[in-house]
Amino acid sequence: MNHDTIAILDFGSQYTQLIARRIRELGVFSVIYPHDTTLEMLMTDESLKGIILSGGPNSVNDDVLMAMDERIFECGLPVLGICYGMQKMVHHYGGTIDSGKRPEYGVSEITVDVTDPLFEGLSKIQKVWMSHGDDVSMLVGPLIILASSNHHVIASIRHEMRPLYGVQFHPEVRNTEHGTKMLSNFVFKICQAEKGWQMAAFADEEIKKIKDLVGDKHVLLGLSGGVDSSVAARLIHQAIGDQLTSVYVDHGLMREGETEEIMDAFHTHEGFNIIKVDAKALFLSRLKGITDPEMKRKVIGQTFIDVFKAEASKLRHFDFLAQGTLYTDVIESGIGVAKTIKSHHNVGGLPKDLGFRLVEPLKTLFKDEVRVLGKTLGLPDSIVNRQPFPGPGLAIRIIGEVTPQSLSMVRESDRILRDVIKAHGLEAVVWQSLSVLTPIRSVGVMGDNRTYGYVLALRAITSIDGMTADWARLPYEVLEEASSKITNRIKGITRVVYDITSKPPATIEWE
Ligand code: XMP
Repeated sequence: MNHDTIAILDFGSQYTQLIARRIRELGVFSVIYPHDTTLEMLMTDESLKGIILSGGPNSVNDDVLMAMDERIFECGLPVLGICYGMQKMVHHYGGTIDSGKRPEYGVSEITVDVTDPLFEGLSKIQKVWMSHGDDVSMLVGPLIILASSNHHVIASIRHEMRPLYGVQFHPEVRNTEHGTKMLSNFVFKICQAEKGWQMAAFADEEIKKIKDLVGDKHVLLGLSGGVDSSVAARLIHQAIGDQLTSVYVDHGLMREGETEEIMDAFHTHEGFNIIKVDAKALFLSRLKGITDPEMKRKVIGQTFIDVFKAEASKLRHFDFLAQGTLYTDVIESGIGVAKTIKSHHNVGGLPKDLGFRLVEPLKTLFKDEVRVLGKTLGLPDSIVNRQPFPGPGLAIRIIGEVTPQSLSMVRESDRILRDVIKAHGLEAVVWQSLSVLTPIRSVGVMGDNRTYGYVLALRAITSIDGMTADWARLPYEVLEEASSKITNRIKGITRVVYDITSKPPATIEWE
């Protein structure tokens, strides 16, 4: 594909992926590299037009770990350092960074030099998002100030002669009012990149790559029904037709009606080989007595592999295994230096030592880009817009042992909540909704009788990418309807509560 690229060096900021997404939203491809990637390595990409240095939690005054190839500053390509990245640049040119003297967190007002291309088209006063403990206290050499905050913090700098820029604030965060415009100025005016990143072109290019890679060999795919494996399946099917065989392992931990929906979406698609394995009983028996969340994830993952392998060996010889690995997964499993909070298990993600070569056509895409690709490929909305659903399924929404009874309670409650949200036209607002069955029992009254049943928690969140989330302000009547339907229809539940915690500090799932 013919497209220009912006490289992002990751110094461990929580926002690194956001920078990459913003650049792609501008129609320019972006790739995240580890902070210590060498100049030679970066230069192997002939489409490279500029480099962004991300922020990060460290201080340039005492870091040893965050090494970077400082020849990048002299290579001639434009560089934009964000927060820590700017401090790295200042440090390189001999300036001074103070630690903890003038920290700023939140929105600040800055005054910018509108004659510089970075701030072209903007007004002099800008509202920007600051999040720093360190700041630049002295500039020397060829660096000059482009903007200062109302707290007298140097907010932006540039090199007098070279296209080297720094911003102390975060233009990638929406709270920086005109951050997108600043990034766009950097990408188009300073790096002179051209738009060329489009999904239809991406699909054509990937289809060709898959054809070349696979030739006349056969590919096996674990279809989970989630957006990623579904889009991968459709894309690979377009490339190699019946050389692809998809296996759907029914682990019995799906939401109501989901298995049928998935089968419908693919079964009816001409020439699509799909095999459904009913492993519900096996999963339940292996989960018996297990209450620890990480253990549940492990058992489910291992059982999935066992079933999948056994099924594949019955079919034929496969040279390739296809996976719906996303860019986020690639970053999480190695490139990134930001801290991982929860070890996600994706049942679609099989270990690499199964003896297959891998086909991973989505591994440069973000989730929202995969949805666009799915639409481009003609997948139904029910699949493309499906709420994210964890690989271990409803098992991690049951605090305690997974039994047929607990599964049925949480499944029914999930359906009721989703139906109520849909009936009130709130589907598009809610990024994810879930029911969590707790092991807490509480006293209730029904008719004239005392009851003693379980507490069920409802959770609905709004989010952009699941990295952060806010609890959805569902109207009281929606909560009331869900609560009353759940306590009336699901035997054994006496009390319904609504989770009003954001992420952070909580995670989206309870386990
Ligand atoms: P957390 O709970 O970490 O979840 O805030 C963020 C998003 O990831 C989903 N999730 C998982 N997905 N395997 C998955 O494939 C997992 O083990 C897993 N745990 C959480 C969660 O539903 C949310 O969308």
